[in-house]
This record gives sequence, structure tokens and C-alpha cells, in this order.
Amino acid sequence: MVSTREESQFSRFSSLNLKDFIITIPNVLPADEYFEILDHCEQTQDFARKEKHNNDENTLNQNGSRYDIELTPGRIYDLIRKAFLFGLDEVYPYYDYLIPKEFYHYCSGYWLLKYIEGDYLSCHNDFDAESGSLTMSYLINDDYEGGELQFWKEYKIPNEKNCLHIFPSCLLYPHEVLPITKGTRYSAITWFGAQRPGMDKRDI
Ligand SMILES: [Fe+2]
Repeated sequence: MVSTREESQFSRFSSLNLKDFIITIPNVLPADEYFEILDHCEQTQDFARKEKHNNDENTLNQNGSRYDIELTPGRIYDLIRKAFLFGLDEVYPYYDYLIPKEFYHYCSGYWLLKYIEGDYLSCHNDFDAESGSLTMSYLINDDYEGGELQFWKEYKIPNEKNCLHIFPSCLLYPHEVLPITKGTRYSAITWFGAQRPGMDKRDI
């Protein structure tokens, strides 16, 4: 028997739209910190090229090309972590009828991504995250063309610098990064999940 309180909580689901859980948070970091990250992205030689091209286009696979860096502890790591933890606090009210406060104790690590002209990431699901995970993307700059984050092959998120995009990592949110047509796109990415035995990266 479901209590009245629970009924009122879960009745909210019946009127929800999947788009309601793609959360955008603008102006995440102060200008001096944001520019410090951008300067680092433009100057570092640490990006490694990643390419995957095959004919098996489905949402289990991630085809495309880009550069990435897994951040290690240090100044840029701290700034990116600050941006993501700010986002985590902002999204708890969206889920407070489902999960306890401070549910997310695990993160995948923080990655800087660089897409140059022609780079893209094909439509995929973040199946490698655990079922309750949230994907967070911190878009660093917006002085490029193309490269939008797009859901369901139709719902395009406008590019905006210093902005977080947060969404469930689950099956219902296939997404892609459209090809960059001009300039260079910098972003950071992580996945937050619940703490479980065997997970070895905790940063919350
Ligand atoms: Fe993804």
C-alpha cells in the first residue's frame, strides 16, 4: 500500500518530460577561474588523440574523434572539480523525492576534452556508467561552430561557455556531439554515481 505522501511524490513522474532532466547551469565559475581553465586548455601539450571509426553505428558504441586528458590532482583538477561539485549541489532538488541528500559519492574522474574542426562523437548512451549515474559536461568555451550536444537526434543544446549540462546516464538519454565546423571546442566530463564496494575512485 502506497502512502499518501509517496503517492504525491511519485505522481510527479506522470507529468514529467525527459527534457526536464537535462539540466543547464550557466555561469558556473567566476571569470578568473574560468579563464584559467581556458588558458590551460589552449596551451597544454598533454591532450592525447582518440579516434574510433567503424561501421557499427549504434548507441552501444562511441564513434568519432577528439583529444582527451584524464586530469590528475592539481590546480586545473581543483577548478574542474569545483565546477562539477557546484553542479551536483544544484541537481539534488530535482531528485530529492527519489534519493537521499548527498547520494553521489563516486565519480569516474575528470576528463578534459578537445574537439577540433571535423571532430565529433556519435550518438551513444553512457552504458558504462552505473544505472543511477548522472553525466556532467562542463562546456568551457563557445567560440566555435557546430559541436552542439544533441539528444535523440533532434534536441540540440545551444553552446554556452562556462556552462554545465547534466543528465541521467541511462538508456533514455542517447546523445552525441555534432561535428565541429569551425574552431575548437573544449569541455570537461565526469559521471557521478552512488558509492559501491569495488569502486576505487571517490572524490566527493
Ligand atoms: Fe556520453
